[in-house]
Amino acid sequence: MTGTICWEDTKLHLDELRKTVDSALDGFTRLSDDCPPRLLQAMRYSLLAEGKRLRPLLVLLAAEACGGRVSDALPAACAVEMIHAYSLIHDDLPAMDDDDLRRGRPTCHRQFDEATAILAGDALLTLAFEVLAKHTSSKGKAGECCALLAQAAGPCRLVGGQADDILAETGGHSLELLERIHRRKTGALIEVASVLGAVLAGADEPRIQALSEYGRQLGLAFQITDDLLDVEGEEGVVGKRLGKDQDRRKLTFPGLLGMEQSRRRAMAAVEQACRAVEGFGANARHLTALARYIAERKR
Ligand code: IPE
Ligand code: IPE
Ligand code: MG
Ligand code: MG
Ligand code: MG
Repeated sequence: MTGTICWEDTKLHLDELRKTVDSALDGFTRLSDDCPPRLLQAMRYSLLAEGKRLRPLLVLLAAEACGGRVSDALPAACAVEMIHAYSLIHDDLPAMDDDDLRRGRPTCHRQFDEATAILAGDALLTLAFEVLAKHTSSKGKAGECCALLAQAAGPCRLVGGQADDILAETGGHSLELLERIHRRKTGALIEVASVLGAVLAGADEPRIQALSEYGRQLGLAFQITDDLLDVEGEEGVVGKRLGKDQDRRKLTFPGLLGMEQSRRRAMAAVEQACRAVEGFGANARHLTALARYIAERKR
């Protein structure tokens, strides 16, 4: 019962924050006439589509947990979502996962065309850093945040994980490699989201480290549950074509460990995430509730 009350309270809070994020994303993508209309349409089509907004919410919740203000962390929250949206557009391309459904709608290259989708991804990736650098209220922190985000999105983290994900399609790989892939392709952005929130709130090093560990564990749990949903989810709810991982012979948790053990691994990571922020007491209640929700999510 306590759990239910706690989740309802968190859900209301997240719904409010999601509205704030959506309206800021809308504002940040009202660009000048120099941006070709079709390119802008494609960027906004993918970015503003109905996503869960997990990463920007994490930035904001982490900031709040450290006593910071939502307004100070909002540009970073939007920047992270822009990078996420770009990564989804490129992930869906024919040369990558070749998907035709995303967020319940045709993927960007299906709705527009491949060249426009590639460019919309490029545009969102670069716009993210412009927004972060220009709109972060503390100019002193903007540079540090840009560096953190660039590293998380870059060749040794998100992009590297994506490259290894494609390489691993040949099969016959270890659990160790699988965890490394998941921690980079998905985990890196989730981890940096919680770290950015803490940094922008002016948190001290132990708090930043605690939120980094929280995000690291949550990131792994999140991608394991994504793998699980690809096997047992409902297409209409998930908003993506399912069963694709097996078709493409992807290296996944269910493929390597089976469903039950994968579920257990995700739960263990969620518990580790919650433990990492225990020291925040009641200030971490939304972070804890969100982590528990991740393990049970249906979309
Ligand atoms: C999908 O991310 C891609 C992964 C990294 C697993 P989300 O499940 O967060 O997608 P949206 O943002 O809600 O569409
Ligand atoms: C995507 O992982 C990770 C990134 C986009 C960086 P998946 O390929 O499993 O994501 P979905 O299932 O297509 O959303
Ligand atoms: Mg992929
Ligand atoms: Mg994919
Ligand atoms: Mg997937």
